[in-house]
Amino acid sequence: MKKLIAGNWKMNGDSASNAELLAGIVAGLPGLDACDVLVCPPSVYVASAVTALAGQPVAVGGQDVSVQVKGAYTGEVSAVMLRDVGATYAIVGHSERRQYHGETDALVGEKAQAALAHGITPVVCIGETLAQREAGETNAVVKRQLAAVIHAVGHCVSELVLAYEPVWAIGTGQTATPEQAQAVHAVIRAQIAAATEHPERVRILYGGSMNAANATQLLAQPDIDGGLIGGASLKVADFLTIIRAAQG
Ligand code: PGA
Repeated sequence: MKKLIAGNWKMNGDSASNAELLAGIVAGLPGLDACDVLVCPPSVYVASAVTALAGQPVAVGGQDVSVQVKGAYTGEVSAVMLRDVGATYAIVGHSERRQYHGETDALVGEKAQAALAHGITPVVCIGETLAQREAGETNAVVKRQLAAVIHAVGHCVSELVLAYEPVWAIGTGQTATPEQAQAVHAVIRAQIAAATEHPERVRILYGGSMNAANATQLLAQPDIDGGLIGGASLKVADFLTIIRAAQG
């Protein structure tokens, strides 16, 4: 399975800067088709990103998805709507949503299920805080978060994309070492293997200060199938360097 390099733009950009970023990515992509590429702009820009990328080998995703399909849920965006405007992925359960929006393991599982039910591939984020790592709870936390998702999606486990994002590494410049990341990815892989007959279909991305300098080593780990990139995905040259690192 090809690696997946995904950009999580978070709440950044505007119409002009997005157009520039996407044009730069598209211009640099020829010859770099050994990995899949995804960008996840803020929801108001998803449709225009799809338009800008028409015919290009770059998928577009949302950064969140509602559990609901439609109705009186002010501020929410459904998987059906994402699909309607041409998105094919959605980040689900990012630690910033767990932290600032109170998203629980159970809700994250329901969101993953809602996405899958409507043709959107969820990129489900799991990962421990610094306090949890220091308390030796990393594996337990990640397993608990993943168990809720596996429970919610039932027989669709093999359709998930997962992202291991240690919270202490996100936006901090403090990356997990390739060995630290691989160790947790192996735990995740084992849990997936126990839940589906097709564990090889599940891509497990690493996220948390992945950048142009460290991507090669991280992506060389046997159970790291790509990256979910925040800050470095906003810079054309850095994002392309990471995509290049995912070719081999
Ligand atoms: P970062 O963000 O690359 O800026 O650390 C990753 C993420 O939060 O998905």
